[in-house]
Amino acid sequence: MFDTMTLTKVGGALCGSLLVFLLGNWAAESLYHVGGGGHGDEVHQAYVIDTGDSEADSGAEKEEGPDFATLYAEADVAAGAKVFSKCKACHKIEAGVNATGPSLYGVVGRNVDAEPGFAYSGKLEEAADVWTPENLSHFLENPKGFAPGTKMSFAGLKKIEDRANLIAYLDTLDN
Ligand code: HEC
Repeated sequence: MFDTMTLTKVGGALCGSLLVFLLGNWAAESLYHVGGGGHGDEVHQAYVIDTGDSEADSGAEKEEGPDFATLYAEADVAAGAKVFSKCKACHKIEAGVNATGPSLYGVVGRNVDAEPGFAYSGKLEEAADVWTPENLSHFLENPKGFAPGTKMSFAGLKKIEDRANLIAYLDTLDN
């Protein structure tokens, strides 16, 4: 049988555990709130990950497999013509017809910033001299990374196959 003393001890033990539990909870809450600052940092980082540069970095990391030269050698011109739909809003392929961007007629092998009558930013020239297929590929992967300050507002073509096909298509224009 429980006597009063036993009941008191059991009751005391229960109250003690409850107190420890509550204190522990409180301590955990406080820690969590200290972590709240960290949570703010996380939100900030999520924002940073959203910027074009980071996307380009992760895009570059994903690029294993065949290199540009290999893909360019076996490029699919018809597929490249489809990729060009992403450029059409700003570029014409007719010779000498400039729009938001310069005419891309004969751009493969052309000097950078060489289309007469187009008001270039001058930033592309700082990054390259001639639009070789390789330079075009680097530029189109991440325009603002390749030529900081360029007027070309285009996020970039992350897929190396798209770039190889598109550049092969552009190279057919003046043939
Ligand atoms: C939102 C408009 C826009 C889009 C979309 C766009 N461009 Fe451009 N592009 C420009 C502008 C503006 C320039 C001139 C940049 C400067 O002077 O800094 C330019 C410059 C270029 C040049 C340099 C040409 C030269 O004469 O030196 C190439 C090559 C080029 N773009 C290719 C492309 C391709 C390929 C695409 C599609 C994948 C594309 N652009 C999408 C606006 C655009």
